[in-house]
Amino acid sequence: MPFSSADPDPRESVLRERREDATAAFTDRTPAIYQDEIRMHPEAAAWAVGPCGAPASLFLTGPIGVGKTHTAWQAARCWLGRRVTATSRVPSIETWRSTQLFDALRPDREDTARTLTRRLQRADLLFVDDLAAARVSPTGWTQERLYEIFDERYINRRPVLITCDVLPSEISHIVGDRVASRLGEMCRGGVLLLTGADRRKGGAA
Ligand SMILES: Nc1ncnc2c1ncn2[C@@H]1O[C@H](COP(=O)(O)OP(=O)(O)OP(=O)(O)O)[C@@H](O)[C@H]1O
Ligand SMILES: [Mg+2]
Repeated sequence: MPFSSADPDPRESVLRERREDATAAFTDRTPAIYQDEIRMHPEAAAWAVGPCGAPASLFLTGPIGVGKTHTAWQAARCWLGRRVTATSRVPSIETWRSTQLFDALRPDREDTARTLTRRLQRADLLFVDDLAAARVSPTGWTQERLYEIFDERYINRRPVLITCDVLPSEISHIVGDRVASRLGEMCRGGVLLLTGADRRKGGAA
């Protein structure tokens, strides 16, 4: 039987289903406390729904416990939902805690580190949580891999989503001058300072 204009568009339902499947899969790999829906800062929400084809990066900064990581997970989920189409492949998002990333990029794991470097160069979105958390700065070899990852993303305009308790200009000692410089440009206009009390202590609005 032919479709009438009153019937739902089958392409719409395919798109909705793909979107729901992709965001559900992302929720499955989201840490439990960050699966709860929060009221996101409007600038983070705007970044997530930003126009396709104009990738921009987001750098979430602010003191301990204001909600940087929770905002980032939710923004990444929204970002994904907005970029799923009815036909093309689902965008890939790499999510890493910085300390775990630096550990995976150690010289004594050279082969896996180089494979990971290539994966992180190509992912559609790279989310690194708590970029300045490391107590000890990564070695020169690890900083070189970080340079390869961020330079490749920079020259191809692939977005990054970063949380960090300091500004991009203050992370050279962790990621090296070249990565800090590239991040400064990639996140220009996309540095969002979250303010307020440590939500873990309760009482934050
Ligand atoms: N907008 C929000 N509304 C309600 N709760 C929130 C909101 N944002 C974050 N939270 C909660 O506040 C707590 C701290 O959030 P989160 O871990 O994101 O902070 P953070 O800024 O990343 O902290 P840190 O600097 O220590 O990594 C978590 O329990 C989180 O679920
Ligand atoms: Mg955090």
